[in-house]
This record gives sequence, C-alpha cells and structure tokens, in this order.
Amino acid sequence: MRDLFERIIENIGPLGKWASQAEGYFVFPKLEGPISNRMKFQGKEVITWSINDYLGLGSMAEVRKVDGEVATEYGAAYPMGARMMSGHTGFHEQLEQELASFVNKESAYLLNFGYQGMVSAIDALVSKNDIIVYDVDSHACIIDGVRLHMGKRFTFMHNDMESLEKNLGRATKMAEQTGGGILVISEGVFGMRGEQGKLKEIVALKEKFNFRLFVDDAHGFGTLGKTGAGAGEEQGIQDGIDVYFATFAKSMAGIGAFLAADKPIIDYLKYNLRSQMFAKSLPMIYVKGALKRLDMLRTMPELRSKLWENVNALQNGLKEKGFDIGATTSCVTPVYLKGSIPEAMALVKDLRENYGIFCSIVVYPVVPKGLILLRLIPTATHTLEDVSITLDAFSAIRDRLENGTYKRLSAAVTAAMGE
Ligand SMILES: Cc1ncc(COP(=O)(O)O)c(C=O)c1O
Repeated sequence: MRDLFERIIENIGPLGKWASQAEGYFVFPKLEGPISNRMKFQGKEVITWSINDYLGLGSMAEVRKVDGEVATEYGAAYPMGARMMSGHTGFHEQLEQELASFVNKESAYLLNFGYQGMVSAIDALVSKNDIIVYDVDSHACIIDGVRLHMGKRFTFMHNDMESLEKNLGRATKMAEQTGGGILVISEGVFGMRGEQGKLKEIVALKEKFNFRLFVDDAHGFGTLGKTGAGAGEEQGIQDGIDVYFATFAKSMAGIGAFLAADKPIIDYLKYNLRSQMFAKSLPMIYVKGALKRLDMLRTMPELRSKLWENVNALQNGLKEKGFDIGATTSCVTPVYLKGSIPEAMALVKDLRENYGIFCSIVVYPVVPKGLILLRLIPTATHTLEDVSITLDAFSAIRDRLENGTYKRLSAAVTAAMGE
C-alpha cells in the first residue's frame, strides 16, 4: 500500500493542473472595492460581469447601513448553537414566514448555506425505497445530495422531457416493487448556460406519473416572475413545485438559503435536516440582513426592471453581432467560442488587460473539450454604456481569436503543458 497523500500530491486534478498558469488570475482572482459594475482587478478598474448580485443590493447604502447596525447590536456570533438547541430567534421565524409568503408556500425553513442545505434536503426527503430522477446537468450540490441516497436514481437528459418520461416510467416500475415514492429534481435556472428548467412540462407530467418535484431556483429567485418569486412564478406553476429552494448568495447578496413547501413537509425537515440540526444557526447579521434585502426585493420592482434592461441589451447585442449565446432564458449570459484552454487564457487576459472587461471563463472539464464559455452576469448596477463597451470588446476579441492571435500568444503555454 502507499501513503494516502501520495496520490493527492501527484495529481492535483483536472482544474488544479492549471494552477501555476491560472491561480490569482483566472481562478482565485481578487476583485476589490465595493461590489458593483466596476471594481478593481490588479489595481485597474474593470467592468465586472461575474458577480451574482443581480439586483445590486450588495452595495446599496440602505442595505449596508442595516448590515452595520445589526453587526453593532448583535456581533457576528449571536445566536449561539443549533436552531433546535439554543440558536432560535423570533427573527429567524419572521424571515421564514416572509419568505414562505413571498414564494407562495405555506412554510419555509432557513439553511446556513445553500450547498449543504440542498445536499441535506435531498438526503432527508428520500428513504432507501424511494427513487430519485434528476437532470443530468444538475448543480454539484444536487449531485452530492443524490450521492447520499441509498436507493435507486436515474438521470434524464438535460431539459429533455422525452428522456424524463422514459425515466419516470422506469422509476415507477421500480417504486411499485420497493413500495417507495419518486422525487424529481431540476433547477429553476441552470446557472452555467442560463436555460430555465422546463418546470411547466415537468409539472404537466404529474398527470401521468406520481412524483414530487424539488426545484433549486438559486438563479431564478429575485430575477424571474412578475414579483421576482422565481422560475415557478415565471412559468405559472409555482403550485406544482413541491419543495422550493433558493439561496441568499445571489439576488439577496448575502449568505444563507431556504426551503419552502407545505407545512407538514417543512415540519418534517425541521426535525430531520441534518445540515441544520447539527450546525450552528444562521447568525443575526444574515437573518436581519435578509429581512432588509427581501423587503427591498419586494418593494423595488424597478431594480428587476433595470436588471432586465441590461440583460436584454447585452443578449440582443451579442446575438446581433452573431455570437452564439446558446438557449439562455434567464439573466445568465453564456458566450460560446471555439478554442483550446491556452487560447482561452490568452483571450481572457486580453479582455481584462486591454479592454477592462472581467468575466468568468469556463473550460473543459466543465464544458466539452475545444469549447470556451465566457459567462456574463448582468446586474441592475450595470449601465448601457457598460454593455456597449463590452459588445465592442467582444467583437474585437473574436476577430483576434479567429485570426490566430491567441494561438500565437499561447504557443509557449501550449508547449509547456504538452497540449
Ligand atoms: C444552482 C445552485 N444551487 C446551489 C448553490 C449553492 O448555494 P450557496 O452559495 O448558498 O451555498 C448555488 C451557488 O451558489 C447554485 O448556483
């Protein structure tokens, strides 16, 4: 046998192998200054397209004031202990009631982090006799939640209703044998490519199959729907979502998350959700901070209008210029280009250094080999001038990609990596 750390030290993984070229720049970059459309990267101002502060609440003076006041009153620790033991307050309850009513559900329960909360909720909702059917492109937190499941699971092809139906047929047969039920899991918005989950079609399948639907609406909450209640509201099927999840890490510009469902389901989760039962309660800074943010989200629809003005200007502008932005139906704006990882690095460097544009870059293994995904997240803080500068910059970098400039610039890196 060998020492456990040998493998770890030998092989840092598919992303880690780029660390010497990428760290501090492409990954783990340091964006400085107040969260906004323009921040500082390596001392220079850049237009930031990589921050999920969709409504621009993160730096709003009113929000920062409340954050400061709560910090002064409570510090960062209060309340101490898990909710069940000593970490419960009336403000936690108030926030849960307000969230439930906002997303049109009977009850809600707070989570300290979306990721752990999703993992734990999946774990709590199913027993070994139950069957999970989930979209193959699901977020890592769903994949990890499913990994805890002791029973059968099926994936369906991304947003493919024929594939879902086929797998529901299989799952139904199996559930008849085990005596269990079926949990279907999808996302409200798929965060990499921006497509909404086909929730309306999924809910329609309830006519044919007996299942419960769990939706992770991290990117939909606050951005979609008439009131901002998310993808279910947008598609007119909020009632058909049996368990609704959203995080505070995006539109709410904070930390924490929540689940919302019928009261008996939330009552069950309160007593069975291991990520909350055995972890310290969400601190007051985030609870009262979330109350303030939710109030702004509800009472300032103009923030959502401004967000969508920017989304439409950016997405239409990119399409007019012939860019492939896939099939996004949300604020998430992917731009697909063809090139190697070293070319992608040279291109993003050019965008940042020479055009002052900061966006995230996604490459293999997250997307197929040879594809470069530049992911732009418009917010309410962006201006139409930001959009216009960005569109011009994108046209310029596409020309340089196509005329081989980045291939030449990246030749040294390519050689070093043996790509
Ligand atoms: C789809 C989706 N689900 C869950 C999460 C995790 O949420 P949190 O950041 O609150 O842990 C994220 C990322 O924030 C996400 O994009």
